[in-house]
Amino acid sequence: MMLGTYRALWLNDEGDLEVIDQRYLPFEKRIRVLKSANDACEAIKDMSVRGAGVIGNVAAFGVYLAAREFADDKQKIEQAALDIRSARPTAVNLMWAVDNMLEVIQRSDDVVSDCKAEAIRQTDEDVRRTQAIGNIGADIIEDIMTVKKLNQFHILTHCNAGWLAIVDSGSALAPIYEAQKRGIDVHVWVDETRPRNQGARLTAWELQDAGIQHTIIPDNTGGLLMQQGKVDMVITGADRVALNGDAANKIGTYLKALAAKDNGVPFYIALPINTFDFECANGVSDIEIEQRSQDEVHDMQGLNATGVVEQVRITPLGSQAANYGFDVTPARLIAGLITEKGVIQPNKDAIGQLQW
Ligand code: MRU
Repeated sequence: MMLGTYRALWLNDEGDLEVIDQRYLPFEKRIRVLKSANDACEAIKDMSVRGAGVIGNVAAFGVYLAAREFADDKQKIEQAALDIRSARPTAVNLMWAVDNMLEVIQRSDDVVSDCKAEAIRQTDEDVRRTQAIGNIGADIIEDIMTVKKLNQFHILTHCNAGWLAIVDSGSALAPIYEAQKRGIDVHVWVDETRPRNQGARLTAWELQDAGIQHTIIPDNTGGLLMQQGKVDMVITGADRVALNGDAANKIGTYLKALAAKDNGVPFYIALPINTFDFECANGVSDIEIEQRSQDEVHDMQGLNATGVVEQVRITPLGSQAANYGFDVTPARLIAGLITEKGVIQPNKDAIGQLQW
Protein backbone atom coordinates (compact mmCIF):
# COMPACT_ATOMS: atom_id res chain seq x y z
CA MET A 1 0.00 0.00 0.00
CA MET A 2 1.52 3.31 -1.05
CA LEU A 3 1.06 6.57 0.74
CA GLY A 4 -1.69 8.59 -0.86
CA THR A 5 -3.23 5.63 -2.69
CA TYR A 6 -5.44 4.94 0.29
CA ARG A 7 -6.93 6.95 3.05
CA ALA A 8 -7.63 5.55 6.47
CA LEU A 9 -11.36 5.96 5.68
CA TRP A 10 -13.63 6.44 2.65
CA LEU A 11 -17.26 6.17 1.58
CA ASN A 12 -18.20 3.15 -0.52
CA ASP A 13 -20.74 3.07 -3.35
CA GLU A 14 -23.58 2.30 -0.92
CA GLY A 15 -22.73 5.39 1.12
CA ASP A 16 -21.38 3.35 4.05
CA LEU A 17 -18.11 4.33 5.68
CA GLU A 18 -15.17 1.96 5.21
CA VAL A 19 -12.14 2.16 7.46
CA ILE A 20 -8.88 0.31 7.73
CA ASP A 21 -9.35 -1.71 10.91
CA GLN A 22 -6.12 -0.76 12.65
CA ARG A 23 -6.43 -3.47 15.29
CA TYR A 24 -5.18 -6.02 12.78
CA LEU A 25 -2.17 -4.16 11.40
CA PRO A 26 0.62 -4.86 10.58
CA PHE A 27 -0.19 -8.50 9.97
CA GLU A 28 -3.50 -8.20 8.20
CA LYS A 29 -5.12 -5.40 6.20
CA ARG A 30 -8.76 -5.72 7.12
CA ILE A 31 -11.49 -3.29 6.10
CA ARG A 32 -14.39 -2.62 8.47
CA VAL A 33 -17.68 -1.32 7.09
CA LEU A 34 -19.56 1.16 9.30
CA LYS A 35 -23.26 1.39 8.44
CA SER A 36 -24.68 3.24 11.43
CA ALA A 37 -23.83 5.87 14.02
CA ASN A 38 -23.50 3.08 16.56
CA ASP A 39 -20.95 1.32 14.32
CA ALA A 40 -18.92 4.53 14.16
CA CYS A 41 -19.10 4.94 17.93
CA GLU A 42 -17.95 1.36 18.52
CA ALA A 43 -15.09 1.66 16.01
CA ILE A 44 -13.77 4.71 17.88
CA LYS A 45 -14.16 3.04 21.28
CA ASP A 46 -12.54 -0.27 20.36
CA MET A 47 -9.79 1.54 18.43
CA SER A 48 -10.49 0.03 15.04
CA VAL A 49 -9.82 3.66 14.17
CA ARG A 50 -7.61 5.85 16.29
CA GLY A 51 -5.44 8.94 16.09
CA ALA A 52 -6.98 12.35 16.77
CA GLY A 53 -7.64 13.36 13.16
CA VAL A 54 -9.14 10.08 11.98
CA ILE A 55 -11.27 9.83 15.13
CA GLY A 56 -12.69 13.25 14.22
CA ASN A 57 -13.35 12.24 10.61
CA VAL A 58 -15.05 8.98 11.58
CA ALA A 59 -17.15 10.91 14.11
CA ALA A 60 -18.25 13.38 11.42
CA PHE A 61 -19.20 10.56 9.06
CA GLY A 62 -20.87 8.81 11.98
CA VAL A 63 -23.19 11.79 12.33
CA TYR A 64 -23.91 11.54 8.60
CA LEU A 65 -24.75 7.84 9.12
CA ALA A 66 -27.10 8.89 11.93
CA ALA A 67 -28.79 11.37 9.59
CA ARG A 68 -29.25 8.61 7.03
CA GLU A 69 -30.61 6.27 9.69
CA PHE A 70 -33.03 8.63 11.39
CA ALA A 71 -34.11 10.51 8.27
CA ASP A 72 -35.27 13.93 9.39
CA ASP A 73 -35.72 13.29 13.11
CA LYS A 74 -33.20 15.90 14.20
CA GLN A 75 -33.52 15.00 17.88
CA LYS A 76 -32.48 11.40 17.29
CA ILE A 77 -29.61 12.49 15.06
CA GLU A 78 -28.40 14.92 17.69
CA GLN A 79 -28.56 12.25 20.41
CA ALA A 80 -26.51 9.88 18.24
CA ALA A 81 -24.03 12.71 17.62
CA LEU A 82 -23.65 13.28 21.37
CA ASP A 83 -23.03 9.56 21.93
CA ILE A 84 -20.26 9.64 19.34
CA ARG A 85 -18.86 12.83 20.89
CA SER A 86 -18.25 11.00 24.16
CA ALA A 87 -16.70 7.86 22.66
CA ARG A 88 -13.19 8.86 23.80
CA PRO A 89 -12.32 11.81 26.06
CA THR A 90 -8.89 13.17 25.16
CA ALA A 91 -8.63 13.93 21.42
CA VAL A 92 -10.38 17.28 20.95
CA ASN A 93 -10.75 16.73 17.18
CA LEU A 94 -13.63 14.42 18.08
CA MET A 95 -15.56 17.16 19.89
CA TRP A 96 -14.62 19.74 17.25
CA ALA A 97 -15.89 17.53 14.42
CA VAL A 98 -19.18 16.66 16.13
CA ASP A 99 -19.86 20.26 17.22
CA ASN A 100 -19.46 21.40 13.61
CA MET A 101 -21.83 18.67 12.47
CA LEU A 102 -24.37 19.76 15.10
CA GLU A 103 -24.24 23.32 13.78
CA VAL A 104 -24.86 22.07 10.26
CA ILE A 105 -27.83 19.99 11.45
CA GLN A 106 -29.38 22.97 13.20
CA ARG A 107 -29.47 25.17 10.12
CA SER A 108 -30.11 22.43 7.53
CA ASP A 109 -33.23 21.68 5.49
CA ASP A 110 -31.64 18.59 3.94
CA VAL A 111 -29.81 16.96 6.83
CA VAL A 112 -28.55 13.84 5.04
CA SER A 113 -26.95 15.60 2.16
CA ASP A 114 -25.63 18.52 4.26
CA CYS A 115 -24.09 16.16 6.84
CA LYS A 116 -22.41 14.14 4.11
CA ALA A 117 -21.01 17.28 2.50
CA GLU A 118 -19.73 18.61 5.83
CA ALA A 119 -18.01 15.32 6.77
CA ILE A 120 -16.31 15.22 3.38
CA ARG A 121 -15.32 18.88 3.70
CA GLN A 122 -13.77 18.35 7.14
CA THR A 123 -11.80 15.34 5.94
CA ASP A 124 -10.56 17.05 2.79
CA GLU A 125 -9.54 20.01 4.89
CA ASP A 126 -7.39 17.72 7.06
CA VAL A 127 -5.61 16.54 3.91
CA ARG A 128 -4.66 20.12 3.06
CA ARG A 129 -3.63 20.82 6.64
CA THR A 130 -1.28 17.85 6.82
CA GLN A 131 0.32 18.78 3.50
CA ALA A 132 1.11 22.24 4.86
CA ILE A 133 2.43 20.76 8.13
CA GLY A 134 4.70 18.51 6.04
CA ASN A 135 6.20 21.43 4.16
CA ILE A 136 6.73 23.60 7.23
CA GLY A 137 8.20 20.71 9.21
CA ALA A 138 10.54 19.71 6.38
CA ASP A 139 11.84 23.30 6.26
CA ILE A 140 12.78 22.96 9.95
CA ILE A 141 14.57 19.69 9.20
CA GLU A 142 16.55 21.38 6.43
CA ASP A 143 17.42 24.30 8.71
CA ILE A 144 18.74 22.01 11.45
CA MET A 145 20.73 20.00 8.90
CA THR A 146 22.33 23.19 7.58
CA VAL A 147 23.27 24.45 11.03
CA LYS A 148 24.63 21.06 12.18
CA LYS A 149 26.15 20.30 8.73
CA LEU A 150 24.45 16.89 8.61
CA ASN A 151 24.21 14.45 5.72
CA GLN A 152 21.69 12.24 7.48
CA PHE A 153 18.89 13.28 9.81
CA HIS A 154 17.64 11.23 12.76
CA ILE A 155 14.14 11.86 14.09
CA LEU A 156 12.53 10.20 17.08
CA THR A 157 8.75 9.84 17.18
CA HIS A 158 6.27 8.36 19.62
CA CYS A 159 3.00 6.56 18.90
CA ASN A 160 1.52 6.84 15.40
CA ALA A 161 0.85 10.27 13.94
CA GLY A 162 0.98 9.21 10.30
CA TRP A 163 -1.72 8.85 7.66
CA LEU A 164 -3.47 6.18 9.73
CA ALA A 165 -3.98 8.86 12.39
CA ILE A 166 -4.74 11.92 10.28
CA VAL A 167 -5.44 11.98 6.57
CA ASP A 168 -3.49 11.95 4.31
CA SER A 169 0.09 12.27 5.44
CA GLY A 170 -0.19 12.56 9.20
CA SER A 171 0.99 15.27 11.55
CA ALA A 172 4.33 14.14 13.03
CA LEU A 173 5.10 11.93 10.03
CA ALA A 174 4.14 14.56 7.43
CA PRO A 175 7.52 16.38 7.64
CA ILE A 176 9.25 13.00 7.36
CA TYR A 177 7.31 12.08 4.21
CA GLU A 178 8.05 15.51 2.78
CA ALA A 179 11.75 15.21 3.71
CA GLN A 180 11.88 11.95 1.78
CA LYS A 181 10.31 13.67 -1.24
CA ARG A 182 12.98 16.38 -1.03
CA GLY A 183 15.69 13.71 -1.19
CA ILE A 184 16.80 14.13 2.43
CA ASP A 185 18.45 11.07 3.96
CA VAL A 186 16.13 10.63 6.93
CA HIS A 187 16.09 7.88 9.52
CA VAL A 188 13.36 7.48 12.16
CA TRP A 189 13.67 6.05 15.66
CA VAL A 190 10.24 4.55 16.29
CA ASP A 191 9.18 4.22 19.94
CA GLU A 192 7.26 0.98 20.28
CA THR A 193 4.60 2.84 22.38
CA ARG A 194 3.39 0.39 24.97
CA PRO A 195 0.84 -0.82 25.78
CA ARG A 196 -0.92 -0.86 22.39
CA ASN A 197 2.32 -0.56 20.41
CA GLN A 198 1.09 1.99 17.87
CA GLY A 199 4.71 2.82 17.05
CA ALA A 200 5.92 -0.74 16.55
CA ARG A 201 2.76 -1.86 14.75
CA LEU A 202 1.53 1.18 12.82
CA THR A 203 4.31 3.76 12.43
CA ALA A 204 6.83 1.06 11.46
CA TRP A 205 4.29 -0.35 8.96
CA GLU A 206 3.70 3.07 7.41
CA LEU A 207 7.42 3.86 7.17
CA GLN A 208 8.27 0.46 5.75
CA ASP A 209 5.56 0.89 3.14
CA ALA A 210 6.95 4.29 2.19
CA GLY A 211 10.54 2.98 2.05
CA ILE A 212 11.77 5.23 4.87
CA GLN A 213 14.64 3.98 7.02
CA HIS A 214 13.52 3.32 10.55
CA THR A 215 14.45 1.44 13.69
CA ILE A 216 11.93 0.30 16.30
CA ILE A 217 13.12 0.93 19.85
CA PRO A 218 11.71 -0.02 23.24
CA ASP A 219 10.03 3.01 24.81
CA ASN A 220 12.79 3.55 27.34
CA THR A 221 15.64 3.81 24.79
CA GLY A 222 15.19 7.42 23.63
CA GLY A 223 17.09 9.02 26.53
CA LEU A 224 20.21 7.00 25.85
CA LEU A 225 20.08 7.77 22.12
CA MET A 226 19.77 11.47 22.86
CA GLN A 227 22.75 11.38 25.24
CA GLN A 228 24.75 9.69 22.52
CA GLY A 229 23.88 12.44 19.99
CA LYS A 230 21.87 10.06 17.82
CA VAL A 231 18.66 12.12 17.72
CA ASP A 232 18.52 15.45 15.85
CA MET A 233 14.88 16.21 16.53
CA VAL A 234 11.84 14.74 18.25
CA ILE A 235 8.42 15.18 16.60
CA THR A 236 5.16 13.83 17.92
CA GLY A 237 1.53 14.55 17.19
CA ALA A 238 -1.01 15.74 19.75
CA ASP A 239 -4.55 14.93 20.83
CA ARG A 240 -5.30 18.27 22.46
CA VAL A 241 -3.21 21.39 22.96
CA ALA A 242 -4.32 23.91 25.57
CA LEU A 243 -4.27 27.69 25.27
CA ASN A 244 -1.08 27.79 27.36
CA GLY A 245 0.70 25.42 24.94
CA ASP A 246 0.62 22.27 27.10
CA ALA A 247 0.14 19.30 24.77
CA ALA A 248 -1.60 15.99 25.42
CA ASN A 249 -0.32 13.05 23.40
CA LYS A 250 0.17 9.31 23.83
CA ILE A 251 1.43 8.21 27.24
CA GLY A 252 5.23 8.46 27.36
CA THR A 253 5.51 11.60 25.25
CA TYR A 254 6.27 13.73 28.33
CA LEU A 255 9.28 11.60 29.26
CA LYS A 256 10.70 12.02 25.75
CA ALA A 257 10.25 15.78 26.02
CA LEU A 258 12.13 15.80 29.36
CA ALA A 259 14.99 13.79 27.90
CA ALA A 260 15.06 16.07 24.84
CA LYS A 261 15.26 19.19 27.03
CA ASP A 262 18.08 17.68 29.09
CA ASN A 263 20.06 16.89 25.97
CA GLY A 264 19.40 20.04 23.93
CA VAL A 265 17.39 18.12 21.31
CA PRO A 266 14.54 20.20 19.78
CA PHE A 267 11.17 18.72 20.70
CA TYR A 268 8.35 19.67 18.31
CA ILE A 269 4.65 18.88 18.31
CA ALA A 270 2.93 18.78 14.91
CA LEU A 271 -0.81 19.41 14.83
CA PRO A 272 -3.57 20.92 12.75
CA ILE A 273 -5.36 23.95 14.16
CA ASN A 274 -8.41 21.88 15.11
CA THR A 275 -6.32 20.07 17.74
CA PHE A 276 -6.12 23.27 19.82
CA ASP A 277 -8.61 23.54 22.66
CA PHE A 278 -8.99 27.28 23.10
CA GLU A 279 -11.36 26.71 26.01
CA CYS A 280 -8.71 24.86 27.99
CA ALA A 281 -6.48 27.33 29.82
CA ASN A 282 -4.03 24.88 31.36
CA GLY A 283 -3.31 21.52 29.75
CA VAL A 284 -1.47 19.83 32.62
CA SER A 285 -4.26 20.45 35.11
CA ASP A 286 -7.34 20.45 32.86
CA ILE A 287 -7.03 17.91 30.03
CA GLU A 288 -8.94 14.72 30.76
CA ILE A 289 -6.70 11.67 30.47
CA GLU A 290 -8.36 8.53 29.14
CA GLN A 291 -7.93 5.40 31.22
CA ARG A 292 -8.37 2.15 29.34
CA SER A 293 -8.73 -1.47 30.29
CA GLN A 294 -5.85 -3.02 32.21
CA ASP A 295 -6.05 -5.97 29.83
CA GLU A 296 -4.17 -3.85 27.28
CA VAL A 297 -1.20 -3.89 29.68
CA HIS A 298 -1.49 -7.54 30.67
CA ASP A 299 -1.84 -8.90 27.15
CA MET A 300 0.24 -8.59 24.00
CA GLN A 301 -0.65 -9.57 20.48
CA GLY A 302 1.75 -10.90 17.86
CA LEU A 303 2.61 -13.57 15.32
CA ASN A 304 3.39 -16.97 16.75
CA ALA A 305 5.99 -19.32 15.28
CA THR A 306 3.47 -20.76 12.85
CA GLY A 307 2.49 -17.33 11.53
CA VAL A 308 -0.83 -17.08 13.36
CA VAL A 309 -1.75 -13.90 15.28
CA GLU A 310 -2.13 -14.71 18.95
CA GLN A 311 -2.79 -12.84 22.16
CA VAL A 312 -0.68 -13.79 25.16
CA ARG A 313 -0.58 -12.67 28.78
CA ILE A 314 2.79 -11.24 29.86
CA THR A 315 2.13 -10.31 33.50
CA PRO A 316 1.53 -12.43 36.63
CA LEU A 317 -2.06 -13.56 36.97
CA GLY A 318 -3.65 -11.50 39.72
CA SER A 319 -1.39 -8.41 39.41
CA GLN A 320 -3.08 -5.07 38.89
CA ALA A 321 -2.11 -2.78 36.02
CA ALA A 322 -2.83 0.89 35.27
CA ASN A 323 -3.46 2.04 31.73
CA TYR A 324 -3.39 5.81 31.27
CA GLY A 325 -3.74 6.52 27.55
CA PHE A 326 -2.12 9.96 27.41
CA ASP A 327 0.11 12.40 29.25
CA VAL A 328 0.56 16.13 28.96
CA THR A 329 3.86 17.73 27.98
CA PRO A 330 4.24 21.17 29.56
CA ALA A 331 4.73 24.04 27.11
CA ARG A 332 8.18 24.85 28.54
CA LEU A 333 9.56 21.63 27.03
CA ILE A 334 8.22 22.29 23.52
CA ALA A 335 10.42 24.05 20.94
CA GLY A 336 7.47 24.85 18.67
CA LEU A 337 4.05 23.76 17.45
CA ILE A 338 4.18 22.93 13.75
CA THR A 339 0.77 23.82 12.32
CA GLU A 340 -0.62 24.48 8.86
CA LYS A 341 -0.36 28.17 9.71
CA GLY A 342 3.33 28.07 10.56
CA VAL A 343 5.37 27.32 13.66
CA ILE A 344 3.54 28.65 16.69
CA GLN A 345 5.21 29.30 20.03
CA PRO A 346 3.57 27.30 22.84
CA ASN A 347 2.10 30.19 24.80
CA LYS A 348 -1.25 31.89 25.31
CA ASP A 349 -0.46 35.00 23.26
CA ALA A 350 0.61 33.10 20.15
CA ILE A 351 -2.06 30.41 20.38
CA GLY A 352 -4.83 32.90 21.23
CA GLN A 353 -4.25 34.65 17.90
CA LEU A 354 -5.14 31.47 16.04
CA GLN A 355 -8.64 31.30 17.47
CA TRP A 356 -11.33 30.55 14.88
O1 MRU B 1 -4.76 6.22 21.48
P1 MRU B 1 -4.46 6.68 20.09
O2 MRU B 1 -3.76 5.66 19.26
O3 MRU B 1 -5.69 7.25 19.41
O4 MRU B 1 -3.45 7.88 20.29
C1 MRU B 1 -2.97 8.58 19.18
C2 MRU B 1 -1.93 9.57 19.49
O5 MRU B 1 -1.57 9.76 20.62
C3 MRU B 1 -1.39 10.37 18.35
O6 MRU B 1 -0.08 10.72 18.59
C4 MRU B 1 -2.23 11.62 18.21
O7 MRU B 1 -3.58 11.31 17.98
C5 MRU B 1 -1.74 12.54 17.18
S1 MRU B 1 -1.89 12.00 15.51
C6 MRU B 1 -3.15 12.92 14.82
